[in-house]
Amino acid sequence: MLNRQVVLKRHPQGIPLPEDFDLVEGAIAQPTEGQMLVRNLFFSLEAAIRGWLDGKANYFEPIPLGGAIRGPSVARVVESHLAGFEAGDLIFGLHHWEDYSLSDANTVLLSKLSPEPDIPLSYYSGGLGGSGHTAYVGLHEIGKIQAGETVLISAAAGATGSMATQIAKLRGCNVVGIVGTDEKAELVTNTLGANAAVNYKTCGDLATAISQACPEGVDVYFDNVGGTTLNAALACMNTFGRVIGCGMISDYNDQDNPTPIYNMWKLVEKELTMKGFLLYTYMDKVPAASQQLHEWVRAGEITVLENITEGLPNAGWAYSEMMRGATIGKNLVAMDLRADETAPLKMH
Ligand SMILES: NC(=O)c1ccc[n+]([C@@H]2O[C@H](COP(=O)([O-])OP(=O)(O)OC[C@H]3O[C@@H](n4cnc5c(N)ncnc54)[C@H](OP(=O)(O)O)[C@@H]3O)[C@@H](O)[C@H]2O)c1
Repeated sequence: MLNRQVVLKRHPQGIPLPEDFDLVEGAIAQPTEGQMLVRNLFFSLEAAIRGWLDGKANYFEPIPLGGAIRGPSVARVVESHLAGFEAGDLIFGLHHWEDYSLSDANTVLLSKLSPEPDIPLSYYSGGLGGSGHTAYVGLHEIGKIQAGETVLISAAAGATGSMATQIAKLRGCNVVGIVGTDEKAELVTNTLGANAAVNYKTCGDLATAISQACPEGVDVYFDNVGGTTLNAALACMNTFGRVIGCGMISDYNDQDNPTPIYNMWKLVEKELTMKGFLLYTYMDKVPAASQQLHEWVRAGEITVLENITEGLPNAGWAYSEMMRGATIGKNLVAMDLRADETAPLKMH
């Protein structure tokens, strides 16, 4: 048996294209003491991966040309020489886009999963995984949302934004989503329960559109996109408002030309708090978040939106679709697996 890997063929210019990636085959690695061999089941497509494709370091090392694409996966342990893990265990961790990965105690985000039989395994890569946890931690720990406040959320139909929209509603907030298509706007209001949605591509002046959708101003802005949307949101914030810096996807495809933000004076004028965060720093908050999210999903109060692409060879294409804003919900790549590799799990 061989190990297929998706590698970086060339540095993307702008939005990544499927041709920026290549599929190669090699031997399956042999785990040594302290390591385990895992079979990847689902890859979670992350906006942050874009930042690793340009050959420049950010909070992770860049992926070199020819190097395997790094990404979080749900995987099953095939062989373990790592204390605390056994063959058959289901785990989550930052691996590579490949059939089989080596994992060890230093694997970023390594955790053992105990999926509930009634919950699809794919949810642990998205709504009940990093996306849900990021939305929950951002809203509570950084945004400190209170019932009755107005919460504005960008990329509101995306993996993180769709969870943030529903959580903020469940906490009694007025929620307004910013999205890139009318279809997404309808979904955010009709399915996710937001009070209103703004299509930033067709609304004309965005600050005016936000003000109309948020007549009492914005108390908390959950920023997934940065750029011109952040600039417009700042203009609409109420005094003592909070800006949750979750991500700035609008600049990821052209990192050398970040969008100027002209409304920074609002931080002083409105005594705003603006704080960025990375989920990794708040892992102690994840168990409580996970428990609450499970309860809401079970009760049918949260809808987990997924966009699943089948097969490792399609991972580059799927990533390109995500980074051009063509998708809704959590983007996952389901590995091409044999029936005996998935049984008895409820996959998605
Ligand atoms: N801080 C953390 O720990 C953490 C963890 C996970 C994710 N994040 C961040 O959360 C954000 C969302 O990530 P995700 O994984 O949930 O992705 P996602 O929202 O599922 O997918 C990306 C969405 O971003 C929007 N978008 C793409 N290009 C844009 C542009 N130029 N301007 C404005 N919007 C654009 C598109 O929606 P529209 O059609 O609505 O434009 C697209 O569907 C990212 O910034 C990511 O880095 C942060």
